[in-house]
Amino acid sequence: MQAIVLTEYGGPEVLRVSEVDDPVPGSEEVLIRVRAAGVNRADLLQREGRYPPPAPAPKVEIPGLECAGEVVAVGARVSLFKPGQRVAALVTGGAYAEKVAVHERLAWPVPAAMTWAEAAAVPEAFLTGYDALTEQAGLMAGQWVLIHAAAGGVGSAAVQLATWMGIHVVATVGSAEKAAWVRGLGADHVVDYRRQKFLEVVRARTPGMDAVLDLVGQTYWDDNLQSLAPGGVLVVVGTLAGDRVEASLGMLLGRRLTVRGTALRSRPLELRLALVQRFIRRVLPTLVEGRLKPLVDTTFPLLEAGRAHAYMRENRVYGKIVLTV
Ligand SMILES: NC(=O)c1ccc[n+]([C@@H]2O[C@H](COP(=O)([O-])OP(=O)(O)OC[C@H]3O[C@@H](n4cnc5c(N)ncnc54)[C@H](OP(=O)(O)O)[C@@H]3O)[C@@H](O)[C@H]2O)c1
Repeated sequence: MQAIVLTEYGGPEVLRVSEVDDPVPGSEEVLIRVRAAGVNRADLLQREGRYPPPAPAPKVEIPGLECAGEVVAVGARVSLFKPGQRVAALVTGGAYAEKVAVHERLAWPVPAAMTWAEAAAVPEAFLTGYDALTEQAGLMAGQWVLIHAAAGGVGSAAVQLATWMGIHVVATVGSAEKAAWVRGLGADHVVDYRRQKFLEVVRARTPGMDAVLDLVGQTYWDDNLQSLAPGGVLVVVGTLAGDRVEASLGMLLGRRLTVRGTALRSRPLELRLALVQRFIRRVLPTLVEGRLKPLVDTTFPLLEAGRAHAYMRENRVYGKIVLTV
């Protein structure tokens, strides 16, 4: 099959298509003929050699954490899928390829009305958002959450999910156009951080945040903690601006704050399986109905994965970038 294989690390130009052996599905795995693969910030880091795949190291290093396509073969113990079915899946690598093998319980059926690109835009953004809001932050209807980088892939999914769950949202973005777009996704207040400090809006217009979903890190640390109501939770999902902070432990203990980090890819298989199964029961039906929407900004052919990475780095995206295979 053809795949983007990392034989060296570096800029977008190292993403080249090579011919490699097809993956062989294990007994509980399905082999997917990939039609579309989502692009993630983690792929950019992996391409630069700063985010190696989890052990055991694969024989060939193919990026790509999510995909949609048809099942073409199934392992001996697979019971949920048959060849020919349309599926989407969360993988720990290998989706920038014509085929990828994945545990059957990390995949879910895709309705005919959903395009391949839309289906491939779901796994990372919606699983990360759902997990962060519910299982990491423990949020319930009526509470408040601050969501950074809200026009990006994870942010736009998290804003939709929170709104659907009845959670009030303050969102941050880097332009007036993005602010208008995120307001349309249901956020109560959207802050263009180039014009206004989000802490001012939190203080003036809300009772304080029950949780912050932080994708930015370093530069937002102090204002994130100041935004939290007593007992609030800061969930560290991404570190786009860097990961070094100076912490005031006094503020943490005085206001009983919690700081917790989360990552999908490095989680043990059994935890990923459990999360995906909860997501299938609780969120997937709403995506299928169309009340939650996979938001695809742009698609690029797999051959132009380098262009897709360069575009992501420009921070212009509304929703997800997807490769078509
Ligand atoms: N923990 C996990 O399991 C997990 C899973 C998926 C993603 N992530 C992480 O989550 C983060 C966001 O991913 P994504 O897929 O949503 O990315 P994305 O779609 O590329 O969106 C990122 C957006 O963040 C904003 N941004 C970039 N650098 C910034 C900075 N220095 N300060 C403030 N805002 C900045 C930009 O929008 P503006 O114009 O609005 O600034 C950019 O478009 C990444 O760090 C990614 O690695 C973590």
